[in-house]
Amino acid sequence: MKPKVFVSQPISQEIKDYLAQYCDFKIWDQKVPIKREDLLKEIADVDGLITSGRRITENLLNHAPNLKVVSNLSVGYNNFDLEAMKSRNVIGTNTPGVLDETVADLAFGLMLASARRIVEMDQLVKAGKWEPTSGDDRFVGVDVYGATLGIIGMGRIGEAIARRARLGFNMDVLYYNRNRKSDTEEELGVKYSDLESLLKQSDFVLLMTPLTPETERMIGEKEFKLMKKSAIFINVSRGQTIDEQALIAALENKEIHAAALDVFEQEPVNKDNPLLKMPNVVTTPHIGSASRKTTDAMAMKAATNMVAALSGKEPENRVV
Ligand code: 8YV
Repeated sequence: MKPKVFVSQPISQEIKDYLAQYCDFKIWDQKVPIKREDLLKEIADVDGLITSGRRITENLLNHAPNLKVVSNLSVGYNNFDLEAMKSRNVIGTNTPGVLDETVADLAFGLMLASARRIVEMDQLVKAGKWEPTSGDDRFVGVDVYGATLGIIGMGRIGEAIARRARLGFNMDVLYYNRNRKSDTEEELGVKYSDLESLLKQSDFVLLMTPLTPETERMIGEKEFKLMKKSAIFINVSRGQTIDEQALIAALENKEIHAAALDVFEQEPVNKDNPLLKMPNVVTTPHIGSASRKTTDAMAMKAATNMVAALSGKEPENRVV
């Protein structure tokens, strides 16, 4: 008998064909996310769960006594209760590597959009407000080329961002990371910095760190106050790595110039969130990895990790 797998979101035919060779699987194929209570029912007798970031808690594990593997269709795995999974010998995997360039593209897009006010200007033109001007500064932004970029979190994605910044935009790149990376410093000409100096010196502060107990709310009131008044803050990591109220206050009090955010404390973001009313805040709905090619590659990685683990082999991307 083939092992049973539940997939908590739609996947392509190619992945279905692949999985069908090894597992007996069921898919939640609808665009609205599966409700928690329905998810708990679906996993009652499965061996494996493929999911795009649903919370794997003690309670969920209690509902799935046969569960052996959770394969995350994302690189971040802050949705895993690592201790609970470990104590039940449930394997957890993620999808690193295949999304680095795609996320770096979005991070750069957000930086450019914010600096050159692309979204604001798009709205202005489309609203018919492009009138002749003789030198007012309604259209004026700031340069990305040649500016100083501070990257917090120099993993694979951080490196892909740094490469764009150094080679394409002649930027000075400072980075802050758990450990210093001399190879990256040599290869890309980036400079290691303590957090405080990075915040003080950067024109753009870009957060690209995984969410862990150590990085939770690592950027708050104190950190925003250290940034330049002209600084643009970009978050492509997780909403919980910052204190969102402190960001709102920093923008309201003009302690920083602008922000560009792909992630929020609550997702989907609350419609009343003050950030959504600010013209100097660019937002996207957590689409860092969302290109067709990358999404498919992530799903294939999640599927191969699942099949390997259920076949008793060591999956390539085991995190727990
Ligand atoms: C995921 C991401 O699509 O991989 C990650 O960690 O943030 C995105 O690529 C998203 O987390 C889905 O839950």
